Amino acid sequence: MILSTIVIALWGFISFTTADSSNSTTDAATTSYVPIFQNAIPPALTIGVEQLPNINNDSAVDANVAAKGYSVVNITNTARGLTGILKLKSATNIYGYDFEYLNLTVEYQSEQRLNVHIEPTNLTDVFVLPDELVPKPKIDDDYDFARSDLVFEYDEEDFGFEIVRSSTGETLFSTKGNPLVFSNQFIQFNTTLPQGYAISGLGESIHGSLNEPGLVKTLFANGISNPIDQNDYGVHPVYFDQRYSSNTTHGVFWRSSAPQEVVFEETSLTWRSISGVIDLYFFSGPDPKDVITQYVSQIGLPAMQPYWALGYHQCKWGFETIDDVIDVVDNFKKFDIKLEAMWSDIDYMDSFKDFTNDPYRYPTDKYRKFLDDLHENNQHYVPIFDAGIYVPNPNNATDNDYEPFHLGNETDVFLKNPDGSLYIGSVWPGYTVFPDFLSNNTQEYFNILFKDWYNRLPFDGIWADMNEAASYCVGSCGSGRYFDNPVQRAGYRFSDQNSYPKGFNVSNATEWSSISKSIAATATSTATTISTSSSSSLSIDAKNTLAPGRGNINYPPYAINNMIGNHDLAFRQISPNATHADGTLEYDIHNLFGMLEEKAIYHALLSFRPNKRPFIIGRSTFAGAGKYTGRWGGDNFADYYMMYFSIPQAFAFGSFGLPFFGVDACGFNGNTDMELCSRWMQLASFFPFYRNHNVIKAIPQEPYRWEAVISATKTSMDVRYSLLPYYYTLLQESHVSGMPILRALSWQFPYESTLSGVDNQFFVGDVLIVTPVLEPGVNYTKGVFPGNGDIYYDYYTHERQNFTTGKNETLDAPLGHIPLHIRGGYIIPTQEPGYTTTESRQNPFGLIVALDAKGRASGKLYLDDGESVEVEESLNVDFVASNNKLVGSSFGQFKVDQPLANVTVLGVDSKPEKVLFNNNTAHFDYTNKTIFIVGLDKIVGNGTFNKEFTINW
Ligand SMILES: *[C@@H]1O[C@H](CO)[C@@H](O)[C@H](O)[C@H]1NC(C)=O
Ligand SMILES: *[C@@H]1O[C@H](CO)[C@@H](O)[C@H](O)[C@H]1NC(C)=O
Ligand SMILES: *[C@@H]1O[C@H](CO)[C@@H](O)[C@H](O)[C@H]1NC(C)=O
Ligand SMILES: *[C@@H]1O[C@H](CO)[C@@H](O)[C@H](O)[C@H]1NC(C)=O
Ligand SMILES: *[C@@H]1O[C@H](CO)[C@@H](O)[C@H](O)[C@H]1NC(C)=O
Repeated sequence: MILSTIVIALWGFISFTTADSSNSTTDAATTSYVPIFQNAIPPALTIGVEQLPNINNDSAVDANVAAKGYSVVNITNTARGLTGILKLKSATNIYGYDFEYLNLTVEYQSEQRLNVHIEPTNLTDVFVLPDELVPKPKIDDDYDFARSDLVFEYDEEDFGFEIVRSSTGETLFSTKGNPLVFSNQFIQFNTTLPQGYAISGLGESIHGSLNEPGLVKTLFANGISNPIDQNDYGVHPVYFDQRYSSNTTHGVFWRSSAPQEVVFEETSLTWRSISGVIDLYFFSGPDPKDVITQYVSQIGLPAMQPYWALGYHQCKWGFETIDDVIDVVDNFKKFDIKLEAMWSDIDYMDSFKDFTNDPYRYPTDKYRKFLDDLHENNQHYVPIFDAGIYVPNPNNATDNDYEPFHLGNETDVFLKNPDGSLYIGSVWPGYTVFPDFLSNNTQEYFNILFKDWYNRLPFDGIWADMNEAASYCVGSCGSGRYFDNPVQRAGYRFSDQNSYPKGFNVSNATEWSSISKSIAATATSTATTISTSSSSSLSIDAKNTLAPGRGNINYPPYAINNMIGNHDLAFRQISPNATHADGTLEYDIHNLFGMLEEKAIYHALLSFRPNKRPFIIGRSTFAGAGKYTGRWGGDNFADYYMMYFSIPQAFAFGSFGLPFFGVDACGFNGNTDMELCSRWMQLASFFPFYRNHNVIKAIPQEPYRWEAVISATKTSMDVRYSLLPYYYTLLQESHVSGMPILRALSWQFPYESTLSGVDNQFFVGDVLIVTPVLEPGVNYTKGVFPGNGDIYYDYYTHERQNFTTGKNETLDAPLGHIPLHIRGGYIIPTQEPGYTTTESRQNPFGLIVALDAKGRASGKLYLDDGESVEVEESLNVDFVASNNKLVGSSFGQFKVDQPLANVTVLGVDSKPEKVLFNNNTAHFDYTNKTIFIVGLDKIVGNGTFNKEFTINW
């Protein structure tokens, strides 16, 4: 759900405020992204203080040149490494007060992991990230110190350290020669990199898969629509450094929730943070997939998703009534396009209030019946949930009825101002407060409200939006101001800016009488109702000055390049000085808000459905969020470049431990068209999370809107649903090991330097390679097919391809066709597609056996009930083929009744005389060097996979 829309709306609004605000929204409506609501808060509260990002400031002091650094005064060896004291050589206090003494701790934690921890000797006024918020990687007690792959070395006089890979002698990381800067509001270290490095990671931002010289990555959560190269929804402070000179890859994770910035230069990487301590983890790999799994298994393995999550999801913002939603579900059925889950954006809410539904447009009984009907048809429903909780007007009886505020207020679960008053933000419903996930009662608060909501309207998952968390005031809007809180006017029909949702005057009679008067008054009142409040940013005039203790929290002396608005850290976000229950400042853990909310939702859902896997799709994530949530890419744009970026974005999230990823197919912001939507529905069908969603007011883009999109979508959905057993097996692999599902070619073939940064193609698991069309007006695409003597088969025709290793092959790709190839040497399980995942699971299985040059192949299948958190019974089947024989052997108790019906063997040079299944003659056809064994179910009966079986040809 949108933020750019409102950002642009607000820009429009701000730039026209000197005129007449009701005219301004009309004017802004002529831009391509029109405002959809008129924010009732005084515009001056939304602006803040203009910041000049340090990286754009030519006269800024260069800390690397000016700082004097530290020297080592003491080193003591310990059982697992060493500890020492560093002493400041001379204070320069460039962007904060320098700490005089630092403690250094180096710990060899496992064969592949080393931790370097540097913090002030005196931790008064220092934020140290607690283990409970972001768990520390654990020490492996079993490993032999001497076998460590990584070695720590340091310089004493001018302290600097390096990490060396012991097997190759290569320096992986070195701050030697550059001063360490460590002050209360600025930490910096600078490491050398080899020329022409291949580094990925450091999220999140919309970017290709490799970082390059000149790039500055800002790590600060904000809610803006997918800006290129800038900070976006979440923060993942980790990078992966792939070195073709030695064919090794390592990873570096800074376990810090602070606002950060990373500068990439020709041969160096400079990492800055404006709070916290240094807590670096080095992962030695040596292959890219090793590094990723080593990292992900430490931050938290991804949640196992329910089986149904792999089905197709449909959403749109702007379904005015429940009937609109019902129509869409019916249309899918009518056009026979698969639909697993229907979603709702904020339309369903009563004036955008969490835990409510509009009594007139989404009346509970009709809404409830709709959900019951969906469930009857094995379909699912996922509503949006926003981070801000509406603050009702205590002087207005119907408004003041809003229990979620009162319950939270009574149990003290909301974020505070520094003076202890409620921190009042502003989001969709008007003035809001924000749950404080550091408060003891917040989990129980969520448990109660989610359960109550579920009992009324039994949803199947939650879409956690706006959880950076967004807030439109800069600073607290001001306690007390909510007494005049007008409900936001929603633009369900853009052409009628001043209209409230249909039926609003009936369902919200009290508000309506006051609001209809206030509409006319809004424009003039905005200029006069601003009264200063204790915590409003407007009262802050000190800017970018050094301050002792915690320093200048709202306007730190080092201004990171927070891309949104005028770079004020509080612009459209909860302010840095908002205060959590234990006194923790939002400044230090802003980047964790989304993850802590997703965690609380996860546990709330479990609290009333204890053994059903919670299904959550979140927007703001941090390292470890994958334990609780999947991700969609955020508010993208309906354009080809954005479709391309979905691929490197999927690689990034896979490496961040969020493999259950997908983007809004056909594009969110702006109008899509037939060709783009056709291409995108096909590309998106290979992403683990497959959803189409778009913004209010943009033309509808359900796949049935265009004939060509219908057929393209059906083709790809049939492929996807056939592959569900394969995808589920990959989901489970990522859940137990951290292995991504969509994989870069450079991860699959780590020693082929020409594949570095290839991100117009991807692998699904190890087997399938997808080569999409990413531009308009063409009927071909290009891709590479790596490996030395590897065989690739066309998925659709089964034909063996004559690809040349290293050559860019041109592939036919008329509209409606997305090239898909199978790599020889693998076996994938399939199942006949049904309308839903539940129906698909009732159908017979198949196997695709793609032989390599030596006639061999292998693969596996994982199955369980598809929904248990604690899986008691599961089934693993291993498939191995060689010498014209396939053996399937299984272990585990989970029973599958469905038979194996078809086996397709690709790459068989001559027609076999006969095919035997467990010594019974099986029917088969042979064409194109492919054996099609069909109708096996007639001779094998049910439950083939529960026993060992053999097929000979
Ligand atoms: C809009 O602007 C016009 C021209 O300045 C003015 O006459 C009118 O009163 C304004 N307000 C509305 C609501 O149209
Ligand atoms: C990092 O260190 C290198 C080598 O000393 C230097 O050239 C570069 O300017 C430094 N970068 C920053 C951002 O300080
Ligand atoms: C250095 O270590 C020695 C012995 O471990 C200890 O006696 C001494 O106090 C330490 N010096 C400092 C400055 O910490
Ligand atoms: C730093 O080390 C000193 C000396 O070993 C110790 O007294 C002090 O408690 C340490 N500080 C922290 C924050 O661990
Ligand atoms: C730590 O720093 C605080 C604040 O500067 C100071 O009050 C305190 O005395 C210091 N503690 C020690 C042990 O030096």
